[in-house]
Amino acid sequence: MWEKPFAQIVVRPQRYTRGYVDHSDAFTLCAFPEKYAGDLTIMGTISGRDGDKLSQTNFTPRPSTVVAPPSYNEACLILECRTMYRQDMDPAGFVDQSTHEIYKEKDYHRIYYGEILKAFVNE
Ligand SMILES: Cc1cc2nc3c(=O)[nH]c(=O)nc-3n(C[C@H](O)[C@H](O)[C@H](O)COP(=O)(O)O)c2cc1C
Repeated sequence: MWEKPFAQIVVRPQRYTRGYVDHSDAFTLCAFPEKYAGDLTIMGTISGRDGDKLSQTNFTPRPSTVVAPPSYNEACLILECRTMYRQDMDPAGFVDQSTHEIYKEKDYHRIYYGEILKAFVNE
């Protein structure tokens, strides 16, 4: 995108994560081996607003190399990204009308484009 390698994330307004992403100019994106599926379910169902969910997982944070947000030692792929663009999803753009059903509360995702500054693969 814009002649840069990029990755895209989407974050709903009610996520605790949202404040961190909006108050930063960077984010990290991690992929994990299959054996961490249970840990990802914890991260993806409990809110950090309600307590320290990380301590309920096997994940250990590690500093990034060129951005402030950290990533995780257990990730098999880490992308360190600099935020280039963000915009709330516009429901007028839903070509598939059934998508409206997903947003009954009108809590449309905010879309973030990140320039991938560094990528790491853990074997
Ligand atoms: C597999 C999976 C993928 C998810 N992807 C997203 C996503 O892309 N954007 C989002 O806003 N929430 C996503 N969620 C939901 C959040 O991870 C979940 O609401 C989480 O508890 C939010 O935590 P937080 O409040 O600490 O940010 C996902 C959940 C799962 C299980």
